[in-house]
Amino acid sequence: MTHVEVPLDIKSEAVGLVFPVHIWGLPHRVIEFLHMLPEDDNKYYFALAVNAGQVAATLLQLRKLMTRKGLKLSSGFDIMLPGNYIPWGGPGPEEKRQERFSMVKEKIKAIAPVIANQKEKAPEKGPLWQNILFSGLYKLSFNQVPKMDKDFWVDERCDGCGICQKVCPARNIILESGMPVWNHRCEQCLACIQWCPKTAIQYGKKTPKYERYHHPDVQLKDIIACAKTPPHYNSD
Ligand SMILES: Cc1cc2nc3c(=O)[nH]c(=O)nc-3n(C[C@H](O)[C@H](O)[C@H](O)COP(=O)(O)O)c2cc1C
Ligand code: SF4
Ligand code: SF4
Repeated sequence: MTHVEVPLDIKSEAVGLVFPVHIWGLPHRVIEFLHMLPEDDNKYYFALAVNAGQVAATLLQLRKLMTRKGLKLSSGFDIMLPGNYIPWGGPGPEEKRQERFSMVKEKIKAIAPVIANQKEKAPEKGPLWQNILFSGLYKLSFNQVPKMDKDFWVDERCDGCGICQKVCPARNIILESGMPVWNHRCEQCLACIQWCPKTAIQYGKKTPKYERYHHPDVQLKDIIACAKTPPHYNSD
């Protein structure tokens, strides 16, 4: 892994960590970001763990890693949105998605004053059985993630536009003869499959029949800008 030696020079009084839950825990990229934070810093740290209904012990994992650095996670919130893990299916019916967006808007209204007033709020978590079982599965799968791209393939609709390469935060895709090739340093963010304008990328056998999805407020330029932002896990 690439570790950044010089910690970030953070000027603000409060720091928010907003990230998706991946395989019931923190994505690699978030752990790498924690390495960039200064140690023993007494700012107000808060977190929003975006997920599709199973936050499990993700915010507890974050609190533990932060404690090791002398940082305090003062509040942590479970933000449930439509699922984007396409190997297991599409994002669900439009009506259900809208329900989740409305619930999240209400929740954000309740969270905002907690953060604005820098209040303490214990990190939200899933039921105990999930926290135990899924944290175990997270640990088992964590080191497998970079090679999970072996199940990607591309169909005849690919026109070589290169968008998949641009949205990849891990610089894991190169184009060979105009077609994407995955290089086994994947973060499983699934941006490549979700953003391909031709729906030409597939994962395993089932994705040809699943709808592509990304949050409706996110535009291609946002995701490309995000992919260019460090840290770049496992990249040069
Ligand atoms: C690799 C991967 C693993 C995921 N694991 C979980 C999970 O363990 N629990 C969960 O509730 N959602 C999980 N999700 C779903 C996402 O967390 C959720 O759909 C996403 O945060 C929605 O964010 P967006 O609105 O920014 O697209 C996973 C998604 C991906 C891509
Ligand atoms: S984004 Fe899709 S169409 Fe464009 S190069 Fe990648 S696979 Fe091909
Ligand atoms: S875009 Fe995400 S899922 Fe696709 S190769 Fe890059 S890291 Fe892996």
